[in-house]
Amino acid sequence: VRELIDKVRAVFVEALDELGWMDEASKKKAQEKAMSIREQVGYPDYILEERNKHLDKEYSNLNFSEDLYFENGLQNLEASAQRSLKKLREKVDPNLWIIGAAVVNAFYSPNRNQIVFPAGILQPPFFSKEQPQALNFGGIGMVIGHEITHGFDDSGRNFDKNGNMLDWWSNFSAQHFQEQSQCMIYQYGNYSWDLADNQNVNGFSTLGENIADNGGVRQAYEAYLKWVREGGKDQQLPGLQMTHDQLFFINYAQVWCGSYRPEFAVQSIKTDVHSPLKYRQVSPRPARLRPGAPRSVSGCP
Ligand SMILES: *[C@@H]1O[C@H](CO)[C@@H](O)[C@H](O)[C@H]1NC(C)=O
Ligand SMILES: *[C@@H]1O[C@H](CO)[C@@H](O)[C@H](O)[C@H]1NC(C)=O
Ligand SMILES: *[C@@H]1O[C@H](CO)[C@@H](O)[C@H](O)[C@H]1NC(C)=O
Ligand SMILES: [Zn+2]
Repeated sequence: VRELIDKVRAVFVEALDELGWMDEASKKKAQEKAMSIREQVGYPDYILEERNKHLDKEYSNLNFSEDLYFENGLQNLEASAQRSLKKLREKVDPNLWIIGAAVVNAFYSPNRNQIVFPAGILQPPFFSKEQPQALNFGGIGMVIGHEITHGFDDSGRNFDKNGNMLDWWSNFSAQHFQEQSQCMIYQYGNYSWDLADNQNVNGFSTLGENIADNGGVRQAYEAYLKWVREGGKDQQLPGLQMTHDQLFFINYAQVWCGSYRPEFAVQSIKTDVHSPLKYRQVSPRPARLRPGAPRSVSGCP
C-alpha cells in the first residue's frame, strides 16, 4: 500500500507540471505540499506491543455493559467529548491516530497534511496482494488519489504543507481554480436524483468530494498505465475475458456502487458532502474545443 501511495503521489506531482492554469510559483508550492503529505497505513504499532498500555488507556473511561446498548452509546459520546476537551491548548500530536483500525474508510486531515488508510479498507475489493494490480489501482489506488487530492480541493487548498491555514496561491492560479471549480459546480448541480424526488445534487456542498473523485480516478489510472509501461506484469481474472483497463474501471465502479432507501436519499442529498454513489463516476477528459466551435454559455467544456 505504501508503494501504491508513492506511485499515485508521483503521478499527482508530474501532472502538476502539465497544468496550463497554474503558474510556476503555485506549482512549486503544490509539489512541496504533495511531497510533504504524511501517511498512516493499517494501525498504530502500539496496539500489538505487549507491554504498551496506550490502547488500555484509550478505553479506561469506558465501562460497557453487554445489555445496555443505549447507555453504551452515551458513554461513547461522553468519552469522545472528554478526549476532545483534553486537546484544548495542547500541541498537535502528529502521530496521533485519528480513526480506529477497523474502519472501512480513508481520510485526509488538512491541519496535519496527512492521509490515513485504516486496516479496514485494505481488503478486497479495495486491495489484496493476491488480486490483479488493475483491481488494486482501480480500488485503493483511486482512494489514495482521492485523499491526496483533498489537500488541494476548495477547502484543503487553504492549508500549507505543514497544515497551517495559509494562502500559498498566486492570484493567477487562485482565479483559475475558482473558474474551473464553477464548471464542476454546474456539472454536478445538473444531476437530478430520481431516488430523492428528482432533487438536484448541491454542486457547492459536494465540490470538494467531486474534485477528489475526479482527481483520484485519473491519477490512479495514470499510475496503473505507468506501472504497466515500466514492465509490470498483471494477472487476468479466471473465467472472465476482460482487459486490464476493463478490470480497473469495473473495480472502481464496484467499490462505489450501492443502494439507498428513498427516505435516506432525501436526507443525504441535503447532508452528505459526497455526491450520490451513481454520480461518483468518471467524467470524460474534456475534449479540446475545436477552433471556431461554439463555447458553451458558462465557458465550461
Ligand atoms: C461498570 O458498570 C457496571 C454496571 O453496568 C457496574 O456494576 C460496575 O460497578 C461498573 N464498573 C466501574 C469500574 O465503574
Ligand atoms: C491579488 O488579488 C488581491 C485581491 O483579490 C489584490 O488585493 C492584490 O493586489 C492582488 N495581487 C496582485 C499581485 O495582483
Ligand atoms: C447547469 O449547468 C448550466 C451550465 O452548463 C448552468 O448555467 C446551470 O446553472 C446549472 N444548473 C444547476 C442547477 O447547477
Ligand atoms: Zn473524500
